[in-house]
Amino acid sequence: MEPIIFAFAGKGGVGKTSLSAAFTRILAERYPDKKILAVDADPAVGLLTALGMEPALTLDDIRLRIAESINRGETADAVALLSEARFHLLDCITEKDNLSFLAIGRPEAAGCYCKVNAYLKQVLETISGNYDFVVIDGEAGIEQINRRVMENITYLVLVSDASRKGLQVISTIKDVAQKLVNCKKTGVIFNRVSPSFAPQALADLPPTLAVIGDDPNQTENDMLGDTVFCLPVTSPVYRGAAEALAKLLEDTPYASV
Ligand SMILES: Nc1ncnc2c1ncn2[C@@H]1O[C@H](COP(=O)(O)OP(=O)(O)OP(=O)(O)O)[C@@H](O)[C@H]1O
Ligand SMILES: [Mg+2]
Repeated sequence: MEPIIFAFAGKGGVGKTSLSAAFTRILAERYPDKKILAVDADPAVGLLTALGMEPALTLDDIRLRIAESINRGETADAVALLSEARFHLLDCITEKDNLSFLAIGRPEAAGCYCKVNAYLKQVLETISGNYDFVVIDGEAGIEQINRRVMENITYLVLVSDASRKGLQVISTIKDVAQKLVNCKKTGVIFNRVSPSFAPQALADLPPTLAVIGDDPNQTENDMLGDTVFCLPVTSPVYRGAAEALAKLLEDTPYASV
């Protein structure tokens, strides 16, 4: 079966990492016999921290290794280069039970970020097929959508708070994604909104997947530096993520779980 790929996007600080971590946890717990890949596509490396993982190597480290070996004239041809890249790639995937992790890393030099984004795109195309689910925590804003880093995905999950800026960002991402992203369904999770927030009043946005208020458990988790696995299942972030996930998977073989 084709992998189911979730990609999270939205303005900075709206909850993309918290929600993609919650999605990853729920998938890992509900489908223990399925393989899940969590991709931290944000150079700030938040997702792996939220999941309690520390990658030994990031994609940027691997990219640099390969670039160095080309510079030293060690790689004979394109075929050898590709197999070398695949070989190195295994070094930056950390595994724990049915979960695998991959982080883009934080390029040090100016101009490297677009290179590592291009690399991420190729890597995702190469390895996604090895997994049942892939959860991608995207960088804030529109850049990775514009660059088609996430060109072929199953679900685009837009996250926003109630701010005008947050809503503008998801509206722009939706428009750009319609042209540049091949995806089955797009939906919105409204996070950290007040109980009076009315998403139906917002014209022209994709369907609402969940509306989540301020979550004291999430705040406590933050203060203690705990992982998403410590979040009570009754907490609004966990519940909202579970609700959104159920809506996205409703017309798939995973619907009943
Ligand atoms: N519903 C919520 N209630 C309380 N705190 C929340 C909630 N959702 C997220 N947070 C907290 O808000 C902060 C920002 O969330 P998060 O890091 O998930 O956002 P982000 O969109 O990934 O940010 P960035 O764009 O910087 O990567 C974190 O400290 C997170 O724990
Ligand atoms: Mg984040």
